[in-house]
Amino acid sequence: TLFKKTSKTIGLIVPDISNPFFPELVRAIEDVMNIYDYTVILCNSDEKSEKEKQYMDVLKQKYVDGMILTTNQLAIEEVMELDIPIVVLDRPSDHSFPSVIADNYNGARLATRHLYDIGCRKIAHIQGPAHVVNAMQRFYGYRDEMKSLGLWEDAFVIQGNYQLKQAKEAVLQALQNDHVDGIFAGNDAMAVGALKAVQQLGLRVPEDVAIIGYDGIPLTEMTTPELSTISQPIYEMGAIAARLLVKKIEGQLIEQLHYVLPVKLIERESTRRRG
Ligand code: RIB
Repeated sequence: TLFKKTSKTIGLIVPDISNPFFPELVRAIEDVMNIYDYTVILCNSDEKSEKEKQYMDVLKQKYVDGMILTTNQLAIEEVMELDIPIVVLDRPSDHSFPSVIADNYNGARLATRHLYDIGCRKIAHIQGPAHVVNAMQRFYGYRDEMKSLGLWEDAFVIQGNYQLKQAKEAVLQALQNDHVDGIFAGNDAMAVGALKAVQQLGLRVPEDVAIIGYDGIPLTEMTTPELSTISQPIYEMGAIAARLLVKKIEGQLIEQLHYVLPVKLIERESTRRRG
């Protein structure tokens, strides 16, 4: 037919709304979509590709006009077949879709370098899930900075899954036998978990172990000591993605298809310079 059924709704798939990074992102998307009279349907994929696919099918049946995907295990061909405007956010796939991410690689270098600058020499990294692209980009940033500082031989990677509790357990476990004087956590939730673990072991932050997180969520200001972090422009990321999607849906010209937004170092108590 000449007419395509539209609904003035868009679908948004995020991995985990209980991670405080996502509410702020969702807020921005909703704010912008509302300006253009779109309603947002929110879905949690729990990092599972099966759930992502199911949601994409359901959203399509509901005739959403477009989707914003903050997911990871994108079965790209399937998404292509959907023939619906798509914008990829925070977790890039390939370059088939407009995308908005922050500079994960350089953010991780910045965090690692900061720990070095305050005097840390045995710097551990709590890595996010290996199947999540931005977790790997942050790992590569850590690796390359450690190499250029000549510290790679002392590198120490703790496997995390972006969740607070698991990170706490993993750090408790890791520090049983190994000594570190700095921890760069791949996100803030894991930094909070690391802080708990380090304190539970009777070590002081930052005197014995300095800690820096990644994201810039408000929770980092609520801990004792307050946590240093690499802050991502979360709201801006969501807002740009939403505007890109509106342009795609409405067939407007898109001048810039791919955005990599800058991040910045926020120094707080947990990485205060030693001595
Ligand atoms: O906190 C969870 C992480 O998942 C964030 O760092 C964000 O970039 C998202 O992908």
